[in-house]
Amino acid sequence: MSEELWTAVDCYVTDALIASDADLAAALRDSAAAGLPAINVTPNFGKLLQLLVRITGARNVLEIGTLGGYSTIWLARALPPGGRIITLEAEPRHADVARANFARAGVTGVIDLRLGRALDTLPKIAAEGWGPFDVIFIDADKENNPEYFTWAIKLSRPGSLIIVDNVVRKGKVIDAGSTDPMIQGTRRLYEMVSREKRVSATAIQTVGSKGYDGILIARVNEG
Ligand code: SAH
Ligand code: DHB
Ligand code: MG
Repeated sequence: MSEELWTAVDCYVTDALIASDADLAAALRDSAAAGLPAINVTPNFGKLLQLLVRITGARNVLEIGTLGGYSTIWLARALPPGGRIITLEAEPRHADVARANFARAGVTGVIDLRLGRALDTLPKIAAEGWGPFDVIFIDADKENNPEYFTWAIKLSRPGSLIIVDNVVRKGKVIDAGSTDPMIQGTRRLYEMVSREKRVSATAIQTVGSKGYDGILIARVNEG
């Protein structure tokens, strides 16, 4: 099993099931041209995000980590009329590219992009009275994943979905002695979720064109 094979199968799956979309393709092209790292979700994961929004009937979405807005556009396209996304990004350069990508995709009106460190912005969003969010996608600095998860629960309701990207990291997540802050943050996330009575959660390992990684999905419980 090789990364080339995972990538070839991702191409096969994407060709078969994911309609090509000029705005999404252009978003990736301009992100690359602007020098943004190619760490956006894959097309098949973007489609999964879209399906999850539609399956849950979500109207209010929170995303932590915008980059060039590729995943945001997938999420935006899933919203019903009146739906809305707040997406948080710390890097002004990333936010500029995302705004242009949103405009071209015609989704500017449903997206509220907040520039700043997410841990500074989240209290403001709460103070402004936004939420509860129906779907929350956490995909920013992995060091702060436990803090983001705590905020996600705070800004949720029973039935809300919380999705966390990059929770396997080539299997490094099982290294209890890792000195990598990203791994430590993700391990703290698992510890927190394992003790958290307010959610029901699982994690799935994935391979594909972005290598070997995984996602965690949690549903906020009733009561
Ligand atoms: N969700 C995007 C990819 C996000 S990459 C997609 O799939 O298309 C992670 C992003 O999180 C980067 O743009 C990075 O600048 C941003 N980020 C990192 N630390 C952050 C912080 N503390 N607050 C907000 N955004 C942050
Ligand atoms: C990285 C971040 C991501 O969100 C991702 O999906 C892949 C890689 C990174 O920082 O290396
Ligand atoms: Mg990610």
